[in-house]
Amino acid sequence: MCGVMGYVGDRACRDILFNGLKRLEYRGYDSAGIAVLDRDNVISLVKAKGKLDALQGKLEQLPSEATIGIGHTRWATHGKPATKNAHPHAIESIAIVHNGIIENYTDLKTGLEAGGVAFKSDTDTEVVLHLLSRELEEIKDTKKAIISLAKKLKGAFSLGLILPFEPEAVYVVKQGSPMAIGKGNGENLFASDVAALVDHTKKALFLEDGEFARITSDDVRVWDFNGKVIDRDFTEIEWSAESVEKRGYAHYMLKEIHEQSSVISKAVSKLVDESGKINTDALGLEGIELSRVKNIHILACGTAFISGMIARYAFESLAGMPTNVELASEFRYRKPVVDDTSLVIAVTQSGETMDTLESTKYAKSCGAQVYCLSNVPYSSISREADGLLLMDCGPEIGVASTKAFTAMVLYQYALAWGIATRVSGKVSVAESDLVSCLRTLPTKIDIALGQESKIRAIAEKYFESHNFLYVGRGAHFPLALEGALKLKEISYIHAEGYASGELKHGPIALIDKDMPIMALAPKDSYYEKTLSNIEQITARNGRVIGVGTEGDNKLADICDDVILVPAATIEVLQSIITVVPLQIFSYYMALLRGTDVDQPRNLAKSVTVE
Ligand code: F6R
Repeated sequence: MCGVMGYVGDRACRDILFNGLKRLEYRGYDSAGIAVLDRDNVISLVKAKGKLDALQGKLEQLPSEATIGIGHTRWATHGKPATKNAHPHAIESIAIVHNGIIENYTDLKTGLEAGGVAFKSDTDTEVVLHLLSRELEEIKDTKKAIISLAKKLKGAFSLGLILPFEPEAVYVVKQGSPMAIGKGNGENLFASDVAALVDHTKKALFLEDGEFARITSDDVRVWDFNGKVIDRDFTEIEWSAESVEKRGYAHYMLKEIHEQSSVISKAVSKLVDESGKINTDALGLEGIELSRVKNIHILACGTAFISGMIARYAFESLAGMPTNVELASEFRYRKPVVDDTSLVIAVTQSGETMDTLESTKYAKSCGAQVYCLSNVPYSSISREADGLLLMDCGPEIGVASTKAFTAMVLYQYALAWGIATRVSGKVSVAESDLVSCLRTLPTKIDIALGQESKIRAIAEKYFESHNFLYVGRGAHFPLALEGALKLKEISYIHAEGYASGELKHGPIALIDKDMPIMALAPKDSYYEKTLSNIEQITARNGRVIGVGTEGDNKLADICDDVILVPAATIEVLQSIITVVPLQIFSYYMALLRGTDVDQPRNLAKSVTVE
């Protein structure tokens, strides 16, 4: 949450920073700002409330020749979205951008105010600004002042700094939130995410917690908070500049929905070797002592959590492991039964979600082994893990997660299968059956994607609804939750997901002609029961959109509208196909309601606050 970016080199940096912030805008978009050093080494600053477009009109106020600067796009924590709370915050000698939360800012602020400091904003970041200023005045050595500052701050603080008295350098500090430094030719950059770097370089260095760096146009020096020099190599960034573009799609979300067949195809080629065998070596299990594992805890948030709810069916049925799927934000505040017989699977697209990170650390402190399934290399959560599987979906930029979800379901299924074979040597789903199911998934996803115009037409009938119910059974119950989550987060329609069998225990009271229901009814082992549930809804004047299996005329007959997709030959993996119409439906519902599909209100991707 919040994106920071900085540049030092020989090119005019105003537009470089602005365009980099555009790439980071998914991390927060309630205000933004840029600070540069002008020809006389004076800080020049512009800020605007709202999205980056609001800042664009002010860029002209910055000196066009400036070659050193920092920028920020904000998701408000302390202080409302307002120009005064937008970053950078600056005084004559320092401009600062910050991603994170300073937990002890109230105490620090009280102390600074007692010393005569007048605050202009309501942010925790301004405390860091004044504290650093005091440290610099007292210590008169930038490196030592930063170390002293870092030791006084509690919480998460990834900082970018320009200091007019050192006009050749930018400084970055990392604690908690991500920070990547990009190596260019006669220039260097930093950003919260490599997405902002790939237009300029393919080489990045990832700071670890407790480290800071001095970056000039031709040098990067890194130290830890004890002043020890850190020697770390730059690594190759695999994401291309093209992969962070919309490539002709109106929105990132639509592009990412359409990428799912190639994402799944890539995953299948990683998981299935040339001889048609499942390559369990690709699962990243080497660091896990499976003989110790007696129970599994999947920890995740939001859509990643829902993928874990689906995967539980696989961990229980294939690996026979008691499997707890838990909202990471709740897990560590109970007294969960987790010990050295537990395998914790942290599922996270970004690898930075604070709740998932903290609950994973907690489980680790109880002796659990940690496995991380993530999409972003070098993330904070992956660094906690004994086993790691990178999904390699390419950057997911739309705030609503789509392609990462389908990849999470697929990889967790493969993981359950791999654990089952390694632990017991046998598994209830034959390898050849799994391989043939996996190999057909991309084409089946393509067929589901081919229904886009039909789904749009259905959305046109329903987009003015105020409420929606999603129902399903088995692994399609969590998928109902996912359908409802997608709809509410981007179209702002109130939507709930329920297990179909639960309707009669309460929610059926909601049903009337104004409560449309999306009923997930594939031809699986629950099919007949699901059809009876649909009949119960239509008998009460509920309007039903059925999502079922190709050729299912019976479903078409009892529903008002129907979307039919190909069947997967393994029941749990059906959700990888069935989710596609749900994603497309929520996309068009949002589009028709005129909401901001890629950057829905109040949200941000990569949630680094608790
Ligand atoms: C919903 C969505 C969020 C994320 C959640 C976890 O569409 O994107 O619910 O799934 O914030 O994020 P990660 O997977 O990055 O840990």
